[in-house]
Amino acid sequence: MTKFLGMTGLLALFCMTAVYAGQAKPAAPAAKASPESIANGEALFKRSCQTCHGPAGKGDGPAAKTLKGKLPDLSDKAVMAKLTDPAIHELVSNGKKSEIGNMPAMAKRLKPEEITDIVNYVRTLAK
Ligand code: HEC
Repeated sequence: MTKFLGMTGLLALFCMTAVYAGQAKPAAPAAKASPESIANGEALFKRSCQTCHGPAGKGDGPAAKTLKGKLPDLSDKAVMAKLTDPAIHELVSNGKKSEIGNMPAMAKRLKPEEITDIVNYVRTLAK
């Protein structure tokens, strides 16, 4: 019996250590975007996003006037902190229907790598 308890204890200790080690492990740093990717993303943003989101992402592009409300400010850290890179990628690929209007899906016009470049550029707008 004591032997059994000892084994269970050891097992529990092992599990706890494993969990702790999992938590203590630093998150893998996100791959840093290359300057080329960001530059390409900027060119694509100017072409595909600026008309609504504005040159600095503030939501003041000419087409924003046709929307029924204010766009989220892409240069606002608090706004961008809520969005992960995959979420932005998904959003640009498939678009978004919202109360103020629709964001067009870009997956047919842009390659996934180009959308990644856009995501990398959009990340530079919030300082
Ligand atoms: C026709 C106008 C239009 C264009 C062009 C456009 N968007 Fe949007 N965007 C919107 C609308 C509308 C929303 C939704 C706003 C809301 O949820 O209230 C939005 C939301 C967003 C958001 C915030 C999403 C969230 O959940 O907070 C991001 C990021 C974004 N767009 C990035 C882009 C990028 C990058 C491009 C270019 C590839 C782009 N948009 C092109 C209209 C546009």
